[in-house]
Amino acid sequence: MSIGRNDPCWCGSGRKYKKCHLDFDSKITAFALKGFEVPDFDAIRTIEELEGIRASAAINTAVLDHVAKHIKVGMSTEDINTLVHDFTVAQGAIPAPLDYEGFPKSVCTSLNNEVCHGIPSPDIILKEGDIVNVDVSTIYKGYYSDANRMFIIGETTPERKRLVEVAKECLEVGLAAIRPWGFLGDIGAAIQEHAEANGCSVVTKFGGHGCGVDFHEEPFVPHVGKKGTGCILVPGMTFTVEPMINAGDSDLFIDKDNGWTAYTKDGKDSAQWEHHILITEDGFEILSY
Ligand code: MF3
Ligand code: CO
Repeated sequence: MSIGRNDPCWCGSGRKYKKCHLDFDSKITAFALKGFEVPDFDAIRTIEELEGIRASAAINTAVLDHVAKHIKVGMSTEDINTLVHDFTVAQGAIPAPLDYEGFPKSVCTSLNNEVCHGIPSPDIILKEGDIVNVDVSTIYKGYYSDANRMFIIGETTPERKRLVEVAKECLEVGLAAIRPWGFLGDIGAAIQEHAEANGCSVVTKFGGHGCGVDFHEEPFVPHVGKKGTGCILVPGMTFTVEPMINAGDSDLFIDKDNGWTAYTKDGKDSAQWEHHILITEDGFEILSY
């Protein structure tokens, strides 16, 4: 990037570069020179991009609220797909999973021992005691957002309830570890510690991801790791944190027939919560939940 001190700042503020992001960019360069991993320039959102991502994220959260209001025992996961698809389209938005690398539906619905990427079907009926993850991603005016939640169908076992809680806590402790100009590895370290302290394991084959201008962008966000390692968390980055927490072992396998659905290898349950966040100068902001 070559930009003069007196040129308008790349962020779109309308201010001169020297009065806006010059010091900020120098700080990133200084980290890089010291050997730290820093995000690509285009991972830092402009004002216009952030506005678009926020609007997309607001719709994404509203879709999940809509699902929360209507999900119930006896419903098929195809019914959830219809709820998500119709509500999203009614907002003038597009469900991001639909036709994404061949994914056939508008949302991922993953039950019990399914880790992620479950495909909605009229044959999958929600039963009392099921735990189901509904993973919603939205495109609005070209901007992407992504979040997911767990739903407990009726009453479930104490073990399943606890798994859903631990997974939620894992997301929360991961987010609480965020320091602007801190490290990406701080997030995974906090998640791993909490999961393992509760006798659970963390899936490593999938992670969070940069999200906003595209569906899946850099950086990959591991949900395990070591404090003080990985990419510097620079204000203006937008990414997901979405730990998949298993009651048993972290190993998984992918459905041979549909090429998508991931199941735990040991057949034990898995739970996941996902927020889409923005790194700020004070910490972070939740864009979609
Ligand atoms: N939140 C999920 C992810 O980032 C959404 C997947 S949609 C799919 O992997 F189309 F890829 F399945
Ligand atoms: Co995601």
